[in-house]
Amino acid sequence: MQHFLSIQSLDEATIVGLLDDATWLKANRKDRSVQPLAGQTWAMIFTKSSTRTRVSFEVGVHELGGHAMFFSGNDLQLGRGEPIRDTARVMGRMVDGAIIRNDSQVDLEEFAQFSGIPTINALTDMEHPCQVLADLLTIKERMANWREARVCFLGDGDCNMARSWIWAAARLGFELVIAAPKEFQPPAALVQETGFGGITVTDDVTAAVAGCDVLYTDVWVSMGKEAESTQRLQLLQPYQLNQSLVQATGKAPLVMHCLPAYREKEITAEVLEAHADLIFEQAENRLHAQKAILRAVAAG
Ligand code: CP
Ligand code: NVA
Repeated sequence: MQHFLSIQSLDEATIVGLLDDATWLKANRKDRSVQPLAGQTWAMIFTKSSTRTRVSFEVGVHELGGHAMFFSGNDLQLGRGEPIRDTARVMGRMVDGAIIRNDSQVDLEEFAQFSGIPTINALTDMEHPCQVLADLLTIKERMANWREARVCFLGDGDCNMARSWIWAAARLGFELVIAAPKEFQPPAALVQETGFGGITVTDDVTAAVAGCDVLYTDVWVSMGKEAESTQRLQLLQPYQLNQSLVQATGKAPLVMHCLPAYREKEITAEVLEAHADLIFEQAENRLHAQKAILRAVAAG
């Protein structure tokens, strides 16, 4: 695999292969003889905040034998207007790979094209594919029949997380329900573009969760959307992941959150704490999933 830019660009076999490798790497974490990045230097360019993604990639690169250099947007001339393609051509001549968190999927893809080095999407406006890979790993660990899981994504159905879930459902063929108000639903054209019939979008949150094995939510105000906070908090309130929605599944669902969590906004403290074991396992799985991604792109 040359780059890891989106779930959309992957096929089923690649996703399943990455998950299997992540499972192996997790079980064998103490075995430090796996050093596919030995002698390599990787650049991490993050123009947005991060706890999980930054820590898991820095640790992951190190555990695989490489060295990670971290740059916030302001550390580079990029922050003063140097074009992404020039930054890419410089980086491509000096480092072995790049991990990028920025506003724009287009810029990410331009970096990959102009740098000529393996490039990984650490979150853009369009997707957060590393997170969904870790989420799938978590579901696979908890459900024997994980390929048949019925997943409900609640909240901002047009954010990067929701979009990565849409492509994951389409590529792996599981049922996905997006429960969101009309203002925050994914474009119908996007759902249609997947060519997959198992994705439902609705504003009826109680109907959406019925029979679901997984309830998933993300922040209501994604990074960069702060100016819309008031409208978002108001319109998304009915989609809060609370105990009555957990009960409305009629099951004992896996409750998941990509974190960071805003208690009493997208999830209640009660539900978050009741499912904290799973949610923080999900966070840990970022490390294992991303080591699998690093190994795959380093192999070319
Ligand atoms: N879930 C996630 O990507 O967290 P960070 O923003 O802390 O990296
Ligand atoms: N949708 C969120 C994900 C954070 C990990 C954001 O973009 O801020």
